[in-house]
Amino acid sequence: MQVDLRSSWWIRDVEIPTRLVLAPMAGVSVQAFRRQGRRFGAGLVCSEMVSCAGLQHGNERTLGYLRISPDERPLAVQIFGSEPGVMAEAARMVEDAGADLVDVNFGCPVRKVTKTGAGATMLEDPGRASRVVEAVAAAVSVPVTVKMRRGLEDGSRACIELGPRLVDAGAASLTLHPRSARQMYTGEADHSLTAELIELVDVPVVASGDVGSPARARALLATTGCAAVMVGRAAQGNPWALREIVDGPGEPPAREEVVAELLLFVRETARELGEGRATGFLKKFYGWYLGQLRAPRITRPLKQELVQLATLEEVEARLLAAAPRAAEMLERLEGELPQGDDDVVLDLPISIYGGG
Ligand SMILES: Cc1cc2nc3c(=O)[nH]c(=O)nc-3n(C[C@H](O)[C@H](O)[C@H](O)COP(=O)(O)O)c2cc1C
Repeated sequence: MQVDLRSSWWIRDVEIPTRLVLAPMAGVSVQAFRRQGRRFGAGLVCSEMVSCAGLQHGNERTLGYLRISPDERPLAVQIFGSEPGVMAEAARMVEDAGADLVDVNFGCPVRKVTKTGAGATMLEDPGRASRVVEAVAAAVSVPVTVKMRRGLEDGSRACIELGPRLVDAGAASLTLHPRSARQMYTGEADHSLTAELIELVDVPVVASGDVGSPARARALLATTGCAAVMVGRAAQGNPWALREIVDGPGEPPAREEVVAELLLFVRETARELGEGRATGFLKKFYGWYLGQLRAPRITRPLKQELVQLATLEEVEARLLAAAPRAAEMLERLEGELPQGDDDVVLDLPISIYGGG
């Protein structure tokens, strides 16, 4: 059955206006990324994974993740941990901060997280995983969702056993990234498992993994019966990929447009993280954005220059020299953004790694 990407769907009483969800990505999913994702057609965006222990201890950096602006909504904030009581308390804080959904991470394959019993480890401990979801669902009135991998080891079918139990425990939606934790990001996501899971549960299921084109998105929606597709890596420095998936293939963005979006991203991220931290954080984004110009002879040297500049002011000047007409476009984009109280400076507790 063909599904219109621009049709809405629901997680309990939360309406999601399109069938495209922007993936949570540690070290990537800052507020600027989420807001941009919404502008380019994502119906739902998600924070990166937030430590429930960090929230419990009132860690200032962790609390910074709970800042939500109205133009991000609907928004899920994702938490990770393994203690039902601590997760429930974290969920309350997430709800109080104004998130529309609380998402629970049962997918992170990174050792720093799995060795604490959290993330993907929960896939092999269905009793504890159910108790966590039960406690979280009892603690908040917003819907609780869960994001999983297939299991810890290659070939594992843990998600098929666990999924229905999590729904019984109160999960209002499931997202499946059907790779094992051991696989990290190698091999392919096996979406035949997504289709199997969908047969077993009566809540909407989101398919995550290797969605990078309109054709792939449509095929997954049609063949698995998923409610929506989630896009992660394909959207890094490339919001146009989101627009294409929702609206179908179009012209690649002009140089001015790429530079204007990058400059907006730079400015917003600097406001969010503070200039010092944003300078390092942004380095990986330069290559991602400039890659959209599809002109390696321009992209490579320019990227090399940008990552070596000491201040964001210099970055901005260099980018504007490469695309002077981007200035006008940037001004327009900035004018269209809602003005909020944006003066909180944050630190990132988790740096660049794959959290699920
Ligand atoms: C850099 C990076 C960070 C990630 N961080 C998270 C995370 O914090 N929480 C989570 O549930 N998944 C995380 N993921 C997994 C993605 O949400 C997604 O499931 C995965 O990348 C597969 O989708 P893709 O092929 O569209 O990238 C991360 C992935 C990447 C590449």
